[in-house]
Amino acid sequence: MNRDSVVDLRSDTVTRPTPAMRRAMAEAEVGDDVYSEDPTVNRLELRAAEIFEREAALFFPSGTMGNQAAIRVHTCPGQEVICEARAHILNYEMATMAAFSGCLARPLHAEDGILTWNLIAPHVRGRSTVRASTGLVELENTSNLAGGSVYPPEVADEICARAHELSLPVHLDGARIFNAAEALGKGVAEITRSFDSVMFCLSKGLGAPVGSMLIGNKAFISEARIVRKMLGGGMRQAGVLAAAGLVALEEGPGRLHVDHENARLLAEGLAEIPGIAIDPQKVVTNIVLFDVTGTGHTAAEICRRLAVSKVLTNPMGATTIRMVTHYDVDRAGCERALLALREVVSGSRTNAVA
Ligand SMILES: Cc1ncc(COP(=O)(O)O)c(C=O)c1O
Repeated sequence: MNRDSVVDLRSDTVTRPTPAMRRAMAEAEVGDDVYSEDPTVNRLELRAAEIFEREAALFFPSGTMGNQAAIRVHTCPGQEVICEARAHILNYEMATMAAFSGCLARPLHAEDGILTWNLIAPHVRGRSTVRASTGLVELENTSNLAGGSVYPPEVADEICARAHELSLPVHLDGARIFNAAEALGKGVAEITRSFDSVMFCLSKGLGAPVGSMLIGNKAFISEARIVRKMLGGGMRQAGVLAAAGLVALEEGPGRLHVDHENARLLAEGLAEIPGIAIDPQKVVTNIVLFDVTGTGHTAAEICRRLAVSKVLTNPMGATTIRMVTHYDVDRAGCERALLALREVVSGSRTNAVA
């Protein structure tokens, strides 16, 4: 299959490096990053820390490793991590917080994936001889499985302030924090300054082929460097990857509004297709979740049929499908996806009746 004729809406992780990234990778100055001697990695870490107005940053091969290193540094074995029920750290990171950090998740359901201090407070536990104590609060912004929803900054700030009063650290899974910043019309430093640590991905909407950053103060990042090595994430001439990451960091954020416009176009088109349930007002970033119960078919069936028309999407549950916009999908691609879905659904409805 020629990839260029495919409309790939499965995730914003599928983007391929731009020509500028490939050039930067080819020309990258490199050294051994386990010795902290890779000048390009060092430049990326300095730049990320500067953009987030923090003391230090560390380059990771993946967002999963960045999140799990943060959990390990912030917690002790036997503690609980409070997170939203749909959190990536709980559902898509291989039970690593249990296997590697010895922690249990304390998942709480929140409307649109947005926790509040009022929801969290009753579940915070101090040290006792009966129940596990809370070691960490974790928020996800944007919330992937809640459809790219965005934390109002005052809600996140209040959670951090109240947790800090109890000496509880708060980690942000900001895999798509630049999407949140774009939706809010604010800078990433402003919307993340209350958190103890922030992970963000270079390899999603920003378009780099590989890499995520963990941000925090110097003491936290020097511990995270040790944990990264434990996880096998000490990379050698990683400057070839960091070079693409630098291009992503400088050029990626400025075009995210296009992905958001395309996601809104998809949402509004989907809302007009019989049998599909979606509230387009809730689509504020680049993730579009919709329910297909009314079509009489499962999400997996619909995704399979769409793939025949070279439109790739992900079933996220029995009746839920996710589409994610990114720089490798343009407005015409989104219109093609809507057309294909309309055909699949009208075909399925006919078949369902037959
Ligand atoms: C919200 C969120 N956090 C973390 C990650 C992990 O990133 P990676 O795939 O680089 O491990 C993802 C990946 O999709 C994600 O959506």
